[in-house]
Amino acid sequence: MANIRLDKYLADMQLGTRSQVKEYIRKGRILVNNNNVMSPNAKVDTKIDIILFDGRNISYEDFEYYMLNKPAGVLSATRDKHSDTVLDIIQGFTRKDLFPVGRLDKDTEGLLLITNDGMLAHNLLSPKKHVDKTYFAKINGKVLPKHILEFANGIYIEEDIKTLPATLKILTSGIESEIELTIHEGKFHQVKKMFEKIDTEVTYLKRLSMGTLVLDDNLQPGEYRKLTDSEIEDLKSIKVE
Ligand code: URA
Repeated sequence: MANIRLDKYLADMQLGTRSQVKEYIRKGRILVNNNNVMSPNAKVDTKIDIILFDGRNISYEDFEYYMLNKPAGVLSATRDKHSDTVLDIIQGFTRKDLFPVGRLDKDTEGLLLITNDGMLAHNLLSPKKHVDKTYFAKINGKVLPKHILEFANGIYIEEDIKTLPATLKILTSGIESEIELTIHEGKFHQVKKMFEKIDTEVTYLKRLSMGTLVLDDNLQPGEYRKLTDSEIEDLKSIKVE
């Protein structure tokens, strides 16, 4: 984004509602490149112009990116009347238009990207792009080497829905097993359904990575941090079939 109205610039950066920021502008509290600008519809360049509000520099952030370790019990949605959502967890953000990139089930934990960058989200979620997602899971039941092959060949999770080849790593195998599974799509309840099909049950599910983005070990469930510049660059440059 380059040229936008001054009142939009200030409202986007959460200085107030459109009418509040218009009032600030008319009262001369805003400087653009050290000049008083009293007109709310003056155009400013978000990349070049220096905007001061009562002497405080207000730089423009087009996009924000957060990595959340989603805790169990919250919905992957923006707002909900009845349940807490992942956006209720994020505090101190600037942009009002944040959303979670994709969905984890309410009882699933782990990596969730939260941003307002619609283009990046579209690329990561597009069914054509097959972005890898890796999960850790605890399984009620015995996961066996033969299942590695079954998942690698693709498995019917519904009568007419076959999964793409997935990579299963068995960490422990017994009455309860622990596994890592990498899938290349995001069908509804996909991991749970895949294990149902081999007569087992997922009892704990956590997403570890999505594309190049890996869950930060330092984040406890419910904690989040901004993505680093290199994490953002890497996500933007994911080349997928
Ligand atoms: N697969 C599932 O079954 N649930 C999730 O939350 C994510 C992947």
